[in-house]
Amino acid sequence: TVADLKGLKQGRLRLAVITTAKYFVPRLLGPFCQLYPGIDIALQVTNHSGIVDRLKENLDDLYIMSQLPEHLDIGFQPFLENPLVVLAPANHPLAGEKNISLQQLSEEPFILREPGSGTRTAVQKLFDEQGIKLKVKLELGSNEAIKQAIAGGLGLSVLSRHTIIPESANPELTVLDVEYFPIERNWYMVYPAGKQMSVVARTYFEYLLNAAQQIVEQTKGTL
Ligand code: PGA
Repeated sequence: TVADLKGLKQGRLRLAVITTAKYFVPRLLGPFCQLYPGIDIALQVTNHSGIVDRLKENLDDLYIMSQLPEHLDIGFQPFLENPLVVLAPANHPLAGEKNISLQQLSEEPFILREPGSGTRTAVQKLFDEQGIKLKVKLELGSNEAIKQAIAGGLGLSVLSRHTIIPESANPELTVLDVEYFPIERNWYMVYPAGKQMSVVARTYFEYLLNAAQQIVEQTKGTL
């Protein structure tokens, strides 16, 4: 039977994902493991530079990241959008305004991720290109902590829209309408090009592509 065949897929899957994928990937592991009970998983969650380090050391079977590393021999496959948005407390004076300028944002205290974060790099790149300097009030190494700091009124920040999906009904935070935003990005599955992908890794790769496709169809227009 099909179930017996699936039982034959045995082994360990080593995954390393960037912090923005930490809601999405674990949630999908439940159904995956039910489908393939013979597969055990080790999942690492770290920032962009942590993923690049693990890739260089060849520690995992598959990596999920948003910014492809240069100078590394890799294969990759985009599978889902990962836009960056500007977040503010819901009662912020700019909430509800249209087409806010970067200049206006630069007058607000800002919360930025830690060096090595891909989110931080993308934000800095945009502001550098436009010649605008941010007023960084606080640096924080966690998307969750940043959301709490925004809600607490410490400042504004830029995060992946996926970080607010778990509480899209949460009235404490709001997405601001700012020029140049959202910053459009994708999640990619990345693997070392010179290495034959294991049966287990290939199985997961196909599972995730399929799951992402279903999400795109379910959320058309809302994500
Ligand atoms: P980060 O990952 O945790 O490095 O900011 C997010 C990203 O690069 O999309």
